[in-house]
Amino acid sequence: ADALKIGIAGLGTVGASLVRILQDRQEMLATTCGRAIEITAVNARDRSKDRGVDLAKIAWFDDAVSLASEADIDVFIELMGGAGDPAYSSVKAALQRGIHVVTANKALLAAHGVELAGIAEEHGALLNYEAAVAGGIPVIKALRESMTGNTISRVYGIMNGTCNYILTKMEKEGLSFEACLKEAQRLGYAEADPAFDIEGNDTAHKLSILTSLAFGTAIAADDIYLEGITNISIEDIQAAADLGYRIKLLGVAQRTESGIEQRVHPTMVPYDTVIAQVDGVTNAVAIESDILGELLMVGPGAGGDATASAVLGDIADIAKSRPGAQHVPAFGRPAKALLPYKRARMQ
Ligand code: NAP
Ligand code: HSE
Repeated sequence: ADALKIGIAGLGTVGASLVRILQDRQEMLATTCGRAIEITAVNARDRSKDRGVDLAKIAWFDDAVSLASEADIDVFIELMGGAGDPAYSSVKAALQRGIHVVTANKALLAAHGVELAGIAEEHGALLNYEAAVAGGIPVIKALRESMTGNTISRVYGIMNGTCNYILTKMEKEGLSFEACLKEAQRLGYAEADPAFDIEGNDTAHKLSILTSLAFGTAIAADDIYLEGITNISIEDIQAAADLGYRIKLLGVAQRTESGIEQRVHPTMVPYDTVIAQVDGVTNAVAIESDILGELLMVGPGAGGDATASAVLGDIADIAKSRPGAQHVPAFGRPAKALLPYKRARMQ
């Protein structure tokens, strides 16, 4: 079969990891997918930056929208970040050409996911975003595909690697909040603006996506009770430990009799539970449902390679898909069949 041609916009922590992995594992991927995966176009802000990968034979585009609109590609990979442009316009432009899209951008999906899913369906394109929630953990595939037919009652967990890394380091090494955040940034875990991590917005973006997948509803990212970790001190962490708890930033979405409840806040979790023991950049997502029961997935929540692994899985799914085959809808059901979101009455 012909090679799958991909264009990548964004060559930072995740994008550079992805390029390196695709180049290092060319043969293995060609065998696994039944066709080669070839990077034909790339874009970032600064062309002169050394990214530790060889881009010499790849067409460089000066802007992401031109790449998405004009490049000779089958798949557009968006790894720039941000809910606005150029992420929004470039993803839209690619989908409108019937080009499949893979993105790790939860801020974009929280703001425009349903609209983009509708455009993808209209133009016969796939919109894949496994890396957008909980890094390398395959939670999107679990909810979107594997758990089809289940009625889900609750989804919750640790969904931000930066916050969990900070809370763990403060507790175990007694380091200041600021020092831990700096280290998380150095390791490539944090968002370009780390306020999104520590103020809980990133967890809220991810939770809103999981809520849509779990309950079949339109995304409602603005209807989330939100509290981040900026006010948590070492004294708070120690006081919780003395009582037998650890403080974790949790995202929780649950079905209630009056509607759906979504919240993000620091939570005291009993010490002897699996979630309390999840340390560092690791994430954990629990899903409670009627047929399967309780599923708990624990794994790397951020970082270049772990995230690139999820992006690669999305690309491989496209490489393996047969021409003309029915696509998996972005949010588990056709965008037009998403139910209206109804918030729970506050207690
Ligand atoms: P990053 O290191 O900041 O890289 C962003 C890349 O996008 C850079 O290459 C930058 O170009 C490029 N870029 C930014 N604005 C641009 C613009 N206006 N036009 C063209 N290129 C632009 O970010 P990252 O950590 O790789 O994250 C990328 C995406 O993955 C984000 O949506 C993030 O939320 C998501 N994500 C990240 C992780 C993680 O662990 N890092 C995990 C899961 C999901 P220059 O390099 O030239 O500045
Ligand atoms: N900044 C995010 C985090 C990246 O720390 O979890 C992964 O989505």
